Amino acid sequence: MAREHFDGIAQDYDDQEKVDRARQIAEAVRAAVPLTGRERVLEYGAGTGLVAQALQGAVGQLTLADSSSGMRQVAEEKVAVGSLPEGTRVWDLDLTDPDVKLPDEAFDLAVSSLVLHHIPDLAPVLTGLHRLLAPGGHLAVADLDSDDGRFHTHLHDFDGHDGFDRQSLARQLRAAGFTDVTVEDCTTLVKHGEVFPVFLAVARR
Ligand SMILES: C[S@@+](CC[C@H](N)C(=O)[O-])C[C@H]1O[C@@H](n2cnc3c(N)ncnc32)[C@H](O)[C@@H]1O
Repeated sequence: MAREHFDGIAQDYDDQEKVDRARQIAEAVRAAVPLTGRERVLEYGAGTGLVAQALQGAVGQLTLADSSSGMRQVAEEKVAVGSLPEGTRVWDLDLTDPDVKLPDEAFDLAVSSLVLHHIPDLAPVLTGLHRLLAPGGHLAVADLDSDDGRFHTHLHDFDGHDGFDRQSLARQLRAAGFTDVTVEDCTTLVKHGEVFPVFLAVARR
């Protein structure tokens, strides 16, 4: 989906429902991944950083990556005013770009929340996240279950996934090199008066 879409909604993105959902996703990540408080965390497709905000205190340094300059600007403003911890980095990173240069860094935990369904070809993103994790590091992906197109019915230029079949996503994670893949119920999202389930997939490099 076009970066311009996310640039356009960034300033008004945060609301109580998204804050609450981000907290539930962060709680599910904390329940699924053993954390010491020192983890180097990459949130990929971080948007305004709501999940990172909910994880702060439970992990170490946060790095927020997003392809939308509008979203990055809101995240940077949060760092500036202290809503995200000092030292939080905000990166322009799009792993679908065939010319992308992977940062020479290693993370202990990579998180992505409601991002992957926007990305038609997952392979370069899953492979890129695998390479960015230290051996033994965890990936946590929160996303929508298959919905027959009902969730994005209002977006006429939507070219992503109508949610995911859990087994199929697990196979794609294994194909990218991940092991110990689990997928559990996580939270829900209400749109057009309908409740959509959100799962959390966790895997290890
Ligand atoms: C629905 S928003 C979710 C934001 C945030 N993760 C949350 O849960 O509140 C999807 C985000 O993914 C980002 N995104 C979409 N495609 C991307 C890509 N190829 N690389 C990096 N970020 C991407 C968008 O810019 C947007 O900020």
